[in-house]
Amino acid sequence: MKGLLLAGGHGTRLRPLTYTGNKHMLPIANKPIILYGLEHLRNSGIRDIGIILGPIKEGVKELIGDGSEFGVKVTYIEQGEPKGIAHAVSISKDFVGDEPFVTYLGDNLLKDGIDSLVEDFEKNKPETVIALSKVKNPQRFGVVELRDGEVIKLVEKPKEPKSDLALVGVYLFKPSIFDAIDKIKPSWRNELEITDAIQKLVDSGYKIHAHIVSGWWKDTGRPEDLLEANRLVLTDLEPLNLGEVEEGSVIQGDVQIGRGTIIHSGCCIRGPVVIGENCEIGPKTYIGPYTSIGNSVMIRGGEIEYSIVMSETKIICEKRITDSLISRNVTIVSADDSIPKSQKLIVGDRSSLSL
Ligand code: DAU
Repeated sequence: MKGLLLAGGHGTRLRPLTYTGNKHMLPIANKPIILYGLEHLRNSGIRDIGIILGPIKEGVKELIGDGSEFGVKVTYIEQGEPKGIAHAVSISKDFVGDEPFVTYLGDNLLKDGIDSLVEDFEKNKPETVIALSKVKNPQRFGVVELRDGEVIKLVEKPKEPKSDLALVGVYLFKPSIFDAIDKIKPSWRNELEITDAIQKLVDSGYKIHAHIVSGWWKDTGRPEDLLEANRLVLTDLEPLNLGEVEEGSVIQGDVQIGRGTIIHSGCCIRGPVVIGENCEIGPKTYIGPYTSIGNSVMIRGGEIEYSIVMSETKIICEKRITDSLISRNVTIVSADDSIPKSQKLIVGDRSSLSL
């Protein structure tokens, strides 16, 4: 079985963070999103993986290379402009050949990986396995209607959803999907929808198995989804201190501190928090739950909580920052000494802010 990992698209909903890079390279708990998918594919036994790249490729090839560092063999497939998930699948026909394959949307995160989906596919031998999860806002997703467990209808982002079962971004296909894709037309968003192609399989009488995933699932399409995914991943953080914590600082709960990082005196780090390598935190700085801090970051003074701070950023500021996504190489300094108020920020690469 082969794997197809989608890392194309424009990442429009994550701008400005995606003006300067591929959205699948954004970190969740200090690990690029794309690696979660790559590792889930590998852990389910898939070694031959095609990665779809779109107009913004920055970093993906540099990170993953030929895949050998991750125990897989990677082939890059250039999609160019994002013409839809089904389009990305159709241009991978030569790579896939006659084999069954898993299509994994690179911006999806699943707590429990995909082992049970692959087992289901191999044991029950349906034409396709689709993964489903109950959601509160089905309008945002592909929605599936079931009758007695049978897949009746799939609709992409319906205005009036017939169920609360959303399509998770993992699909197990046989080469029959290529004929189904040939039969569909672009949707209202001018994309070839994989949802419509699966509907064609249903219409042709193929057996489609609907598999409700266990554990949480997150589509990281919007800034608030990244922060929520970061929270979910940090919930299972293993504490580890490879850095130095000066006397007079308090470390509470599950905290990871990378090599070469120093926590100066008078700090409080309340986990779950991950801090990368070669960072300088403090003195007198509070880092609160569900915060990820990348490598070579300096944070001096103030408070930061429920946020993602990417590498090489400097925050020298007495303010309180929460619910924020702060990209790489950003500088944030205090503009005055007014009473601290909470700030919510989404800041792109190489920005400079005075708060
Ligand atoms: O996350 C699950 C949802 O993903 C499903 O419920 C929907 O049925 C499915 O259509 C998809 O919806 P989105 O609107 O969230 O898809 P998005 O455009 O965000 O793209 C999903 C992933 O596929 C993302 O990692 C980028 C990649 N992609 C997307 C397109 C349109 C490509 O590689 N090429 C493309 O042409």
